[in-house]
Amino acid sequence: MTDRPTSAASASSSAVKLPGTTAGLSQFPAVRLRRRRSSDWMRRLVQENHLQTSDLIWPIFVQEENGRSPVPSLPGVDRIGPDLWVDVAGEAKALGIPAIALFPVVPSHRKTHACEEAWRADNLVCRAMRAIRAEVDGLGLIADVALDPYNASGQDGLLSDTGEVLNDETLEALIKQSLAQADAGAHILAPSDMMDGRIAAIRAALDDAGYSEVALMSYAAKFASAFYGPFRDAVGSSGALMGDKKTYQLNPANVREAELEARYDVDEGADMLIVKPGLPYLDILQRIAATSPIPVYAYQVSGEFAMLKAAAAQGWLDEQATVAETLMAFKRAGADGIWSYAALDIARAMKG
Ligand code: PBG
Repeated sequence: MTDRPTSAASASSSAVKLPGTTAGLSQFPAVRLRRRRSSDWMRRLVQENHLQTSDLIWPIFVQEENGRSPVPSLPGVDRIGPDLWVDVAGEAKALGIPAIALFPVVPSHRKTHACEEAWRADNLVCRAMRAIRAEVDGLGLIADVALDPYNASGQDGLLSDTGEVLNDETLEALIKQSLAQADAGAHILAPSDMMDGRIAAIRAALDDAGYSEVALMSYAAKFASAFYGPFRDAVGSSGALMGDKKTYQLNPANVREAELEARYDVDEGADMLIVKPGLPYLDILQRIAATSPIPVYAYQVSGEFAMLKAAAAQGWLDEQATVAETLMAFKRAGADGIWSYAALDIARAMKG
């Protein structure tokens, strides 16, 4: 540890300097670091980081049909129908989860290349938010701003005739989608598509339309990751997706570029940032959180959650303990909060 005060150590004449030991600190046997681990109350007293229910954001999938339908590649996560939206949101609220995020399972006949469904006032996400806002008070609602669930190509952007993902044309669509979501009662919009300039464009459009109180939580550093597979199964975009997302999502090899993305999003007016995926990108999270002037959130993505679930199902890992440990890793790395499919389970466990 380099951040300990050294004055006490230098004042102590009994300090034995052994070769290779930490310069300036008292040494064993006077120092016994295990003293502070000797009992549960002592460990609690010296604990540096804490996971609380207020750290959690719970992503849910909303579907057209009543009831629940499981996602095979995301065990324990169900797509939730209109008859259950309010109950599910109410449960999150009752457990003290500050906010939920809604992702739609868009029927394939509504997916087009122009993505009009994304800003239809009565689309799934808008309907779900209106229903929840009418019944559940004091729960934050986060809407994902991106075209992929609505796009016949499965891409996050509109395509040119030659199949390139168009940036500026996509911004126009994102603005329409954002305004529809703000109108339906979203408290936070979370643009997740990594197009250039989207935060500034959406902020200006929201303000012009009188939605200055709607916050933007930007997926600032979102990597072109293979860990999104189960999510794409859940929203039904994996079948549709042609090609990959490497022309807009970040290269997993790059750190500096991720930091730059975060700086621009702050500059463009983001209120909060997201780093995604989570565990494989803890270094990115730590670096961005260390210098960010605004709160930074980790997203424990579908593939990360599926890995833990799959191992737990085999009896190879203790699900609750490993999930809690991963969430603590995000806190340790500096996250102000965590998006996790395990949020409800963890909140229940913390209450119980
Ligand atoms: C879509 C979006 C994705 C996720 C959140 N929003 C998938 C993607 O970029 O393909 C992934 C979430 C997860 O894997 O849990 N813009």
